[in-house]
Amino acid sequence: MAKNPEHLTCLEVIDKSSEFLRLKGVPSPKCDSEWIISSVLEKKRLELYLNPDDILSEEAIGKIRAMVVMRGKRIPLQHILQSVNFAGILLKCDRRALIPRPETESLVDHVLSRVPKSFEGKILDLGIGSGAILIALCLSLEKASGIGLDSSEDALSLAEENIITQGLEKRIRLRKFDWHLDDLRQIDANLIISNPPYLHSREWESAEPEVKVHDPPEALVSEQDGFADLGRIIGLGAQSLKSEGILALEFGIGHPEMIEDALSSDFGDIEVLKDLSHRKRFAIARRK
Ligand SMILES: C[S@@+](CC[C@H](N)C(=O)[O-])C[C@H]1O[C@@H](n2cnc3c(N)ncnc32)[C@H](O)[C@@H]1O
Repeated sequence: MAKNPEHLTCLEVIDKSSEFLRLKGVPSPKCDSEWIISSVLEKKRLELYLNPDDILSEEAIGKIRAMVVMRGKRIPLQHILQSVNFAGILLKCDRRALIPRPETESLVDHVLSRVPKSFEGKILDLGIGSGAILIALCLSLEKASGIGLDSSEDALSLAEENIITQGLEKRIRLRKFDWHLDDLRQIDANLIISNPPYLHSREWESAEPEVKVHDPPEALVSEQDGFADLGRIIGLGAQSLKSEGILALEFGIGHPEMIEDALSSDFGDIEVLKDLSHRKRFAIARRK
């Protein structure tokens, strides 16, 4: 391997990259530098510190530099690495769909703690995006089958790649679907899950560049104070869920009361659950 002319060690590259990203206003400069360097060196992050004085090759430095410059332009780390870890599953990630968020892992956990391992029903994921939620559920519930619905062709193509990589193509089907135009009358579901767009346009305006420039706005922003899509999905859930079927939703910080109100006529056993920051962000309810 060609030595880099400056003989930079691993530790020096971490420090220089972190400082560059810090000056660019990137929120977690050291952590992001470590992720980039570990992906180029094909090592775990902790391993970078086992031999901190190793001199990196010129080729590795070139790759790291290019990726750090991209991150300095506020391109999301997951788009640079082209992957994201969601609930312990490595998924492909790019501009075609929203980057799955860590809080959505809590929604998956809440559902899994309420559904038996032997669940063999049909799950609908409304707004499947990259496929994260439905893939995580079907990998844990080995007898379940799923249908992923999304209005975005781009999202559906990314979800398809992830479903194939995880070997779930026989259990998960995909369908183009717009919940403002289509209905679910033909489908009897046992579990409907959705992390729909729920941001108020004001929240979108104040978002970090990673979100504003690189996430698809149609995946995040909703009318009527962020509640228009949630309201429609609750209506579709009432239409398509079997009696006792479960509806599981992620919603915005201003929505808990609106959610409980909207669920109350057709759903019982309504639970409003908190995220890791103790904010009410999820609802799970049973069709009456
Ligand atoms: C917040 S993203 C969630 C993606 C994925 N489920 C996740 O949790 O990472 C919302 C998804 O809903 C889709 N979507 C937005 N409006 C829709 C509509 N009217 N009908 C169907 N899907 C829609 C978007 O394309 C996007 O993939």
